[in-house]
Amino acid sequence: MDLPRPELIDFHGVSMSHYFTDNWENVQNFQARPDDILIATYPKSGTTWVSYILDRLYFGQAAPERQTSIPIYERVPFLEIEFPLLESGKDHADKLTTCPRLIKTHFPVQFVPKSFWEQNCRIVYMARNAKDNLVSYFHFDRMNQAEPEPGDWSSFFHRFMEGKMVFGSWYDHVNGWWKKKQAHSKLHYMFYEDMIEDTGREIDKLCSFLGLTPSVEEKERVAGGSQFDNMKKDSMANYSTLPVMDYKISPFMRKGTVGDWKNHFTVAQNEEFDEDYKKKMKDATLKFCTEI
Ligand code: A3P
Repeated sequence: MDLPRPELIDFHGVSMSHYFTDNWENVQNFQARPDDILIATYPKSGTTWVSYILDRLYFGQAAPERQTSIPIYERVPFLEIEFPLLESGKDHADKLTTCPRLIKTHFPVQFVPKSFWEQNCRIVYMARNAKDNLVSYFHFDRMNQAEPEPGDWSSFFHRFMEGKMVFGSWYDHVNGWWKKKQAHSKLHYMFYEDMIEDTGREIDKLCSFLGLTPSVEEKERVAGGSQFDNMKKDSMANYSTLPVMDYKISPFMRKGTVGDWKNHFTVAQNEEFDEDYKKKMKDATLKFCTEI
């Protein structure tokens, strides 16, 4: 697929690309149901990982053929996407016949359609430390024609700090959702680094939030199946079926680790980043770890 790369636009004060704003009215009017589950993340925080886990927890036993025949981006539609030749994420979500419906969004919290709050839906938010998130986003933008031109590493690095990324500032995103969690009890805030450290423990917490009681064997099956190497070779999970992505430039399942930023940041960049980070991340209750 040969498409021009989109420009970054300012949309209600958030940097976006038109692929995620063109269907704005319809998306805002999306009718959530009380049992819908919204998976919310800043891009490149492990959205696919948590989507895969939720899909397996809910449907792994009742409909195992889903995992081997339907790509993850169809099992879990991307609510705000409006892309040429593809069904809109909103229409796709409307047509889901599963119960619950698993729906993905990268929206900052203030953009989430109001029906999710009115229906008091469960929301799973996954956050990832800024440095690894930045690196992952850089490689993603290099290989994905549907993203604005990334430019070179140094300019991307500065744009990230300025919040000039599709879906806006990482700092605003993670903080906005963190604040929302204080008011909305059905919001489970997870960290990518915790998942890497102990996937089983985090699946336990997720199940308790969702009110699920899978057997030990089932939980082990979900945790094992969702390990990076398994997902990387699974064509229904690794996005290899999407033509806008060029895997010769970089794979979607790239490294799946904590601390890859050390292979990208110079010492000077790291100092500059840390200095700026301190100014933006004032809430001492929201802590990220950048190595484990
Ligand atoms: P890297 O680029 O650092 O490898 P998203 O799904 O939000 O786009 O996030 C993609 C990032 O999550 C990529 O990070 C990808 O490799 C990582 N990821 C996906 N599945 C994973 C898994 N099972 N375990 C660890 N990391 C995973």
